[in-house]
Amino acid sequence: MLKATDLHAYYGRAHILQGVSFALAAGEVLVLLGRNGAGKSTAMKSLIGLVRPRAGRIAFAGHEVAGWEPYRIARLGLGYVPEERRIFADLSVAENLEVGRQPARDGIEPWTEDRLFALFPNLGRMRTRPGGRMSGGEQQMLAIARTLMGNPRAILLDEPSEGLAPIIVEQMAAAIVALKAAGVAVLLAEQNFHFAASVADRAVVIESGRIAWAGTMAALLADDAARRAHLQV
Ligand SMILES: Nc1ncnc2c1ncn2[C@@H]1O[C@H](COP(=O)(O)OP(=O)(O)O)[C@@H](O)[C@H]1O
Ligand SMILES: [Mg+2]
Repeated sequence: MLKATDLHAYYGRAHILQGVSFALAAGEVLVLLGRNGAGKSTAMKSLIGLVRPRAGRIAFAGHEVAGWEPYRIARLGLGYVPEERRIFADLSVAENLEVGRQPARDGIEPWTEDRLFALFPNLGRMRTRPGGRMSGGEQQMLAIARTLMGNPRAILLDEPSEGLAPIIVEQMAAAIVALKAAGVAVLLAEQNFHFAASVADRAVVIESGRIAWAGTMAALLADDAARRAHLQV
């Protein structure tokens, strides 16, 4: 579905991603783990085209998309929810969703308000509330819901649990598991290991722009030494 091979990315002369490879299969949740500054967001921005990789390949939905403009990659069905949620503060929940609407996509049941409100029940109770008057967790859910209105095949979620209260983190985890069940492939970037462990099938640990560990979440949970060495958990 989405495959990055030997990606190298730079900001100016700083060599940030130094040969990163991973693949996201249809119907799975893959998490990029790693501490602050490891390169997780840069990897996501490379996938969606906001950072142009200097070398490496990115295959998505049957196309070689490295170097494409972000809008073309998004149009192929790659959704992206950045760390900064970028909700329209003056628009209501329903209006924010409307802004994200894209045509239906072959093989994907189109997302509607009703389906999204089943996934995020909180949002359904505040349909007319302006985005600017929602909590951080509610805004994060709205940002994801708005991206789903584009009917993506796969979605990139950059630190969706960041700054959320524990009860909201649980709701976010339930929503991600439901997304997977709905057939949307999910790539997460996370520093919160326990959240990642509750939703991800596989994990890739990035350290200073290189892959330090990769495998199933079950294997990472069983490997105390790897967790301590790479994640301090
Ligand atoms: N726009 C930018 N310009 C220059 N350096 C950047 C920029 N964005 C990120 N970096 C640097 O790139 C490295 C990786 O950052 P990032 O991908 O955001 O890491 P993570 O998401 O894992 O915290 C860090 O050293 C960060 O300071
Ligand atoms: Mg980041």
